[in-house]
Amino acid sequence: MSKTAKLDLGDKTIDLPVIEGTEGEMAVDISKLRAQTGYITYDNGLGNTGSCLSDITYIDGEKGILKHRGYTIENLAAKSTFLEVSHLVYAGNIPSKEECDALKSQIKENSKIPEGIKSIIKSFPKDAHPMGITSAAMVALSGFYPDLLDQDLTDDQKKKAFPLLMGQLKTIAAAVYRHGQGKDFIESNPKLDYTSDFLYMMNGEEPNEDVAKALDVLLVLHADHEQNCSASTVRVVGSSKANLFASISAGIDALWGPLHGGANQAVLEMLDAIKQDGGGYEKFIAKAKDKEDPFRLMGFGHRVYKNFDPRAKVIKDYCDVVLEKLDVQDPLLDIAKGLEQTALSDEYFAQRKLFPNVDFYSGIIYKALGIPTNMFTVMFALGRQPGWMAQWKEMIEAPGMRITRPRQVYTGKTDEEL
Ligand code: CMC
Repeated sequence: MSKTAKLDLGDKTIDLPVIEGTEGEMAVDISKLRAQTGYITYDNGLGNTGSCLSDITYIDGEKGILKHRGYTIENLAAKSTFLEVSHLVYAGNIPSKEECDALKSQIKENSKIPEGIKSIIKSFPKDAHPMGITSAAMVALSGFYPDLLDQDLTDDQKKKAFPLLMGQLKTIAAAVYRHGQGKDFIESNPKLDYTSDFLYMMNGEEPNEDVAKALDVLLVLHADHEQNCSASTVRVVGSSKANLFASISAGIDALWGPLHGGANQAVLEMLDAIKQDGGGYEKFIAKAKDKEDPFRLMGFGHRVYKNFDPRAKVIKDYCDVVLEKLDVQDPLLDIAKGLEQTALSDEYFAQRKLFPNVDFYSGIIYKALGIPTNMFTVMFALGRQPGWMAQWKEMIEAPGMRITRPRQVYTGKTDEEL
């Protein structure tokens, strides 16, 4: 029997349908609330709002569980490549050998960016932030692929769009890096796998296997994260039937913020500031706890994870392995570990259930791989693109899909006259 929730509003009692997810998540369906009662709901930051039904990613924030299409992130990080996880997230299954080979060759065919996109990247000042350039290049692709601008894409167009954007973003990200370094762009090397090719286009030489593997794992860990700020942005923009390039570009913009993906850059800058300050992190912990001070401990806390972020656990373990393999000694890793330990044993962080998130340790690995700090969030975008595309595809294919258009509670002046 289907469940309902009873709601008393003044002298009215109504039954609201209850939806149950496959992992037991319960949601009260309020789609008809206003029509039935005249009331709307208010949910600051949308922390209690399920904005869609989704088959892609499941998170249990209390238990620290993250799964894509039923596979745990630990399992995927240990056994799958970024390309396989991208296919899983977007197409819904771990690819067979044939599917994987087909995707590889389609991405290779799409790894050359148009000359016009190169010119757009080159037109930016060298010290422009890579996220701004990446977003601009992404939306500019709309001018070069007009066959993907139809309001309702066919299945064939959607199949074409995935390897196209995977190939293009990889090359754009490498070109953006080269531009910042004042270096010429390097063409994709079709002999290399996805992540090695990206590193090759960045550095001009085939990467060491350990370096490529480390980056590939990081990309896997970022592949999707259900209705986070950037994925929600992609869905909101796409819901107006704005084209795919515009939707993904908007996702890149949302990711840039330091409360979201931009935190990986902010963490490294914070660790560096602690080092410059003599390495004592207690002062920074005190600042983070001070309600008069806007400073927050970057890489700590999460809207959904109230136990631990499983991605952070994998990355922390991986940090030791990668630094050892690359023979890198980074004092920032010791500072990060000390900072984590002190914060975790502090009542302020314990009470608020604040734990290290995915961005806390990722920057230390990027740094060891030779990736500059202002490129960290671009790395996140490269990893997250399959998730954004999967969320966008699921949104446009959802039965009864409507434009996203929330309401508000008006609190301004009333009945003013001139
Ligand atoms: N340092 C100090 N205090 C914090 C922090 C932090 N990093 N995060 C949350 N708090 C406090 C906050 O001040 C509030 O305290 P009180 O209840 O006394 O007012 C309480 O914890 C709850 O915080 P909130 O702001 O209501 O939590 P939220 O769910 O709205 O925000 C967050 C989540 C991730 C934006 C926030 O924890 C934060 O700003 N963290 C630092 C930035 C960061 O690392 N972002 C990356 C997030 S994970 C990857 C991603 O999404 O890209």
